[in-house]
Amino acid sequence: MTASGASIIISSIGTYTPERCVTNAQLPAHLETTDEWISSRTGIHQRYIAPDGQEASDMAVLAARSALQKAHLQPADIDLLVVATMSPDYPFPSTACLVQGKLGMRTVAAFDVHAACSGFIYALEVASRMMQSGAYRNALVIGAEKMSSVLDWEDRGTCVLFGDGAGAAVLSKSSTLGVGVIDCLLCSDGMRPELLYCPAGGSVQRADAEAIAQRANFLKMNGKEIFKVAVRLMADSAEQILARNGLTFADVDCVIPHQANVRIIDSLAKQAGIPREKFFVNIDRYANTSGASIPLALNEALEQGRIKSGNNILLVAFGGGLTWATSLVKWL
Ligand SMILES: CC(C)(COP(=O)(O)OP(=O)(O)OC[C@H]1O[C@@H](n2cnc3c(N)ncnc32)[C@H](O)[C@@H]1OP(=O)(O)O)[C@@H](O)C(=O)NCCC(=O)NCCS
Repeated sequence: MTASGASIIISSIGTYTPERCVTNAQLPAHLETTDEWISSRTGIHQRYIAPDGQEASDMAVLAARSALQKAHLQPADIDLLVVATMSPDYPFPSTACLVQGKLGMRTVAAFDVHAACSGFIYALEVASRMMQSGAYRNALVIGAEKMSSVLDWEDRGTCVLFGDGAGAAVLSKSSTLGVGVIDCLLCSDGMRPELLYCPAGGSVQRADAEAIAQRANFLKMNGKEIFKVAVRLMADSAEQILARNGLTFADVDCVIPHQANVRIIDSLAKQAGIPREKFFVNIDRYANTSGASIPLALNEALEQGRIKSGNNILLVAFGGGLTWATSLVKWL
């Protein structure tokens, strides 16, 4: 609720994925991988890859335009813009500022949130809390990733797992009480950053010739270790957010999980005791699009009629940092 008593709702979602779809079978031969290995270990069958010249900000703009159109709003109606990305156009300035410029928006508050694959939920919490202050009318919360630009295309252990895309949500106020973004729980544990990180390009190691020769300017991941902790962390935080809102897993109508690995989603369903049919899964077509994964899944769940008015929706994600996050949304 806002200071004036209104709820903050997700009034529309828009998405964009690049034109080029790359199936597992179409991955470069030098990777020495197979469709069977990728699909059986991860559930991924294909991913979308953006071309040179189409950056995270460009995909964000296309997703935002779609969301604005669905909400019957113009860029001028937005006064807060938050972008979640771990594959920004530049280390600085923020991708949000580039999106603000490309959308031709007014001089609004625009900034990035960096929480890797949990980024969309982090951004949702930040934007909805800022709107609750009463200082903003409508916000755009965007997850946009050009993961293909940070992947090492020589490393079959990581490059087959990710894809590009963007999803944008318009947040607005509603006078209906007790709906929209009810609560968010954001968590982090920075004791083992090397589980998922990019060694070079920051202050520790410049992205110079030596770093490039070491391929240190690309994403590195310990997938096995992340897999071990991801399920428990997401299940615990989901349980916590439900408990503090007087709910249990039985009250959840639909779960929109971060799409990193279908086996992680299966294990989460089992651990939480939520029927697997309540989990929306589209990793088969998009792979892991990091910050864009939740809005891409939420949009499809809505289009397929999986979410109805009055439903309790759980958004749940984990990612580099480590970060993990859960949001409880009551759909209007
Ligand atoms: C990455 C992941 C799919 C690997 O699955 P896994 O069952 O743990 O597989 P392993 O790492 O044990 O690899 C098994 C073998 O397959 C090989 N392999 C790795 N990638 C391969 C590929 N694309 N194609 C074929 N073989 C591959 C490995 O080299 C290894 O071979 P070895 O046993 O000879 O050393 C899985 O650990 C995972 O999804 N982890 C979570 C990652 C994640 O979600 N990250 C994003 C966080 S938001």
